Amino acid sequence: MGKEQIVQLIEAALQAREKAYAPYSRFQVGAALLCADGSIYTGCNVENASYPASNCAERTAVFKAVSEGKKDFLALAVMGGVQDGKRLSDCMPCGICRQVLAEFAAEDLTVITGASAKDYRQYTLGELLPHSFSKKNLQ
Ligand code: THU
Repeated sequence: MGKEQIVQLIEAALQAREKAYAPYSRFQVGAALLCADGSIYTGCNVENASYPASNCAERTAVFKAVSEGKKDFLALAVMGGVQDGKRLSDCMPCGICRQVLAEFAAEDLTVITGASAKDYRQYTLGELLPHSFSKKNLQ
C-alpha cells in the first residue's frame, strides 16, 4: 500500500469519526474501508441506551460496503479516542470486528490505527486474528 493511499484512508476515518454517536462512552471512533475497486466506505460507532445494541465503527463500514455489493477489501483504517481528548489512542478493532472482517477479508488485509496520518501503526488481519474460525470450518 502506498503512503498516499494510507494517508487518504486515515483522513477518511478521521472525518467519519466526527459523525460518531457515542454519548455513553464518549469514545468516538471512525473507520474507513478500502475496497478492491478503489472505493472507500466509512463508518462510525453508533451507541444505544441499551449498551449491547451499540455498533462499532469498523462493523458500520463493513456492513455499509457489503450492503452496497462490495466484498473485496484491501485495507481498513480505524481512528478512535475520547471526545475532547488531547490525542487519539491506537484504537485496535475489537474481537467481534476482527471476526466480521475475517468473514470477507484475507489474512493480508492491512489494518491501520493511530492518532494521525503522521502517527500510525500498521498490522495485518492475520496478526490481529490468528487461527480464526471461518467458513472453511463449516465445510
Ligand atoms: N469501538 C469501536 O467503534 N471500535 C473499536 O475498535 C473499539 C470500540 C466503540 C464501541 C463503543 O461505542 C465505544 O467505542 C467504546 O467501547
